[in-house]
Amino acid sequence: MTLPEKLFPATLMPDRDWWQALWPDPDATIAALGIDPGMAAVDLCCGDGYFTAAIARRVAGDSAAGSVIGLDLDPGLLQQARAACAGAAHCTWISGDAMDLGQLVTARADCVLIANTFHGVPDPAGLAAAVSSILSPGGRFIVVNWHALPREQTPVLGLPRGPKSEMRMAPAAVRAIVEPRGFELEAVVELPPYHYGAIFVAA
Ligand SMILES: C[S@@+](CC[C@H](N)C(=O)[O-])C[C@H]1O[C@@H](n2cnc3c(N)ncnc32)[C@H](O)[C@@H]1O
Repeated sequence: MTLPEKLFPATLMPDRDWWQALWPDPDATIAALGIDPGMAAVDLCCGDGYFTAAIARRVAGDSAAGSVIGLDLDPGLLQQARAACAGAAHCTWISGDAMDLGQLVTARADCVLIANTFHGVPDPAGLAAAVSSILSPGGRFIVVNWHALPREQTPVLGLPRGPKSEMRMAPAAVRAIVEPRGFELEAVVELPPYHYGAIFVAA
């Protein structure tokens, strides 16, 4: 059962038509973010699995024994994610609140990705602490966000898209929240046309 009161504001799954137009090559995105073959990854707030499927392909590359956990509050989206990853043997699924990550995921992860969601998290420092609790030493926390551009300047298929302008976060704002929770910023990767990936290493 979905718990709407726990849904982070402004984080509904976008429609596939414009999402695919915006992110035509999710495999390249995942590689650019440093998610590598053999990693144990978590796709936090995975939605319909658009990026989870790319992670599943990537971590299994070169016969590596990687794995991915997809976690989302919405069981209907998780079903879609499961279908998107059909055939990949190393995917597991968790229906739950991202804020409970530390209780929901017991194994250590090499990386945790949160894409297109961090802008809406009411307690982002608490979420960063939860991520820290499940990462291996030297593991990565990767935050993919819309750049802090006015919404009317980020059209896709002819319409303004993404969260409200005032919810958008510059990389420095994410850094100020995440680093005090046990991380160091390693890199900010540009993901044109409108996104960046902030990659943090667990200290
Ligand atoms: C904008 S979508 C992004 C999905 C995916 N990361 C992507 O980039 O394609 C945000 C997702 O976060 C999920 N979500 C929102 N609040 C959540 C929470 N408290 N715990 C777990 N998932 C949540 C929503 O159900 C939705 O699938």
